[in-house]
This record gives sequence, structure tokens and C-alpha cells, in this order.
Amino acid sequence: MTSLLQYIFSYIEKNNPAHAARLNVLIDLNDKFFVSKAESFFTRYKSFIEKKGLTIDYGIDCYLKLCAQMVFERLEFMRSGKYASSSFADVEKQIYLNPEMFEYHMHGLVFAQFLWPEQFTRFNFFSNHIGKELKSRSKYLEIGGGHALYILEAMNQAPENVSFQLVDISPSSMELAKGIMEGLKIDFQLKNIFDFAPEEKFDFITMGEVIEHVEDPLALLIKVRELLTPGGTAFITTPANAPTIDHIYLFNNADEIRELFIKAGFKIVNEAVQFAENVTEEKARKYKIALMYAAFVKP
Ligand SMILES: C[S@@+](CC[C@H](N)C(=O)[O-])C[C@H]1O[C@@H](n2cnc3c(N)ncnc32)[C@H](O)[C@@H]1O
Repeated sequence: MTSLLQYIFSYIEKNNPAHAARLNVLIDLNDKFFVSKAESFFTRYKSFIEKKGLTIDYGIDCYLKLCAQMVFERLEFMRSGKYASSSFADVEKQIYLNPEMFEYHMHGLVFAQFLWPEQFTRFNFFSNHIGKELKSRSKYLEIGGGHALYILEAMNQAPENVSFQLVDISPSSMELAKGIMEGLKIDFQLKNIFDFAPEEKFDFITMGEVIEHVEDPLALLIKVRELLTPGGTAFITTPANAPTIDHIYLFNNADEIRELFIKAGFKIVNEAVQFAENVTEEKARKYKIALMYAAFVKP
């Protein structure tokens, strides 16, 4: 195992042995692709967080806090069958515009991208296809870029002529994305995607884990379709049954997601689906286990 991952695993082992035991079962540290991607992303994160006068321990603490918070959210979800928030205005006030609340969440998500297998499957799916997808493209947009893992991967695989833009509503996400992308040429726009009105269209759009954050995901999907050139492609992901502090719109299964994509005028070209726990499909449905859904779609 390489040094940063080794450090992260031993820190979790010391501070939350039960979670470390779970990670040891779920994560294959002999997977060279996983290790190299995780190591290089955590190296960027470490450099960013140290410039803020903190250490990587801060990020791992955020991750452990996120995991603990999610247990609580899941208990509430199993009891009520609903997500805790249903209004965007509430989430905006309490979370996006409240750095203390949102920062730990986003920093925790940095680690979840690699330590939650369904999250890494999502990234792996993107990484395996994005180089080919960007071969003849010139304008790339990411909506809700958060930790910037996806736009960084796209940039690493894209031809030189492609321009990159990132729109995010949260100042904390924007700070994190700028820190991770330091030294790279990218146009950052701090705004609600519904207020984004560019003059030109994009031939590739990535929007990972955003539609569950809005009250009307159909309107957002239509907005994405309208921002795309007619021959463009979008990579869109969203979870089902995944309660967290900032999720508003509940999808109950993958079919509901597919149906909404089609209703918004998209054709699904390629998709990846994975439950967050290694259980049978019957059990996953019964216990409403979170599901990751990712797809490349075309207008
Ligand atoms: C869960 S994070 C997703 C991060 C990353 N895209 C991924 O796939 O893991 C959601 C991001 O979407 C942003 N976001 C939520 N609603 C938005 C909106 N209406 N307009 C722009 N960004 C939004 C949040 O600030 C956050 O950075």
C-alpha cells in the first residue's frame, strides 16, 4: 500500500476501528487503478488543506463525522420513508450558505469518493469512458463540481483544445474545487445552475449527484438538455434511497431515475448501477439500501 492511503487507513483504524474493519472487507488495496487514483487525488487534497493551515486529519475527521451523521439520517429515513428536507430554500439557508455545516460534508465526501465502493464504481465508469467521449469536443461544463474529482479526471484525459467551466452554488465547494484544481485553467462560476445563462452551448456536461438536491429535478434535467449542443453528451448521476442533510428529492429505484431522464428528452446510452451494500437485490429493496445510478445520455 502506498503512503497516503496507508496513513488514512491507520488513522481510521485508530479512531474508528469498526469502520476500519468494514473498509478492510470492502476495499481491494491490490487494485492498482484504485490505489493510483486515490493516492494522486489525496495528494492534491493534502496540499490544499495544508495551505489552509490544517492537516489531512481534518479531512478524515470530516469523513468519519459524515459517516456518523448518515447513520442518523438513515434511521430517520427508515422511520419516516422521507428525506429530512424537502425545500431548497431551507437547505440553502442551513447548509450551502452555512460554511461550518457544509464544509465538513464536502470534505467528508472527498474521502467517500474512494472509500465507498459504489462511489468508486461511479468514478471508474466515468474514467473508463471520458477520454473517448472528449476526443472531438471543445466545451466542457461541470455542474455542482464539489470536490472536483470528475473535472480533474476529464482534464487529464481531454485533448488540449477543450475549455473547462465549473458552476457550483456553494462557496465551500468552490473553495475546495479551486484548491484541488490549483494551477489548472478553468473558469469557475459561483451560482445556482438555474441562474446560469451562458452565450454558447456545451458539447459535454457532467452533473454528478446534483438533481437530488433540487425540488424539481425534471426542470434541471431539461436545463442541462438545453445547455447541450444537439450532438452533445452528458454524464449524469444521482442516488436512490440515500438520505443526507442536503438531499431533497427522493428516487425510490433506478427505474424512476431512468424514466425522468427520458421524460427530460434524453436517450440513455450507457449506464452503471450499484447498491451501497453487498447484499442481494431482494434485501437491498426491502431495506431501501442506497443505490448509485450513473449514465451517459444524449438529447
Ligand atoms: C454531493 S455534491 C456532488 C459533488 C460531485 N459532483 C460528485 O459527483 O460527487 C453536490 C454539489 O452540487 C452543488 N449544488 C447543489 N445544488 C446546486 C445548484 N442548484 N446549482 C449549482 N450547484 C449546486 C453543491 O454545492 C455541491 O457542491
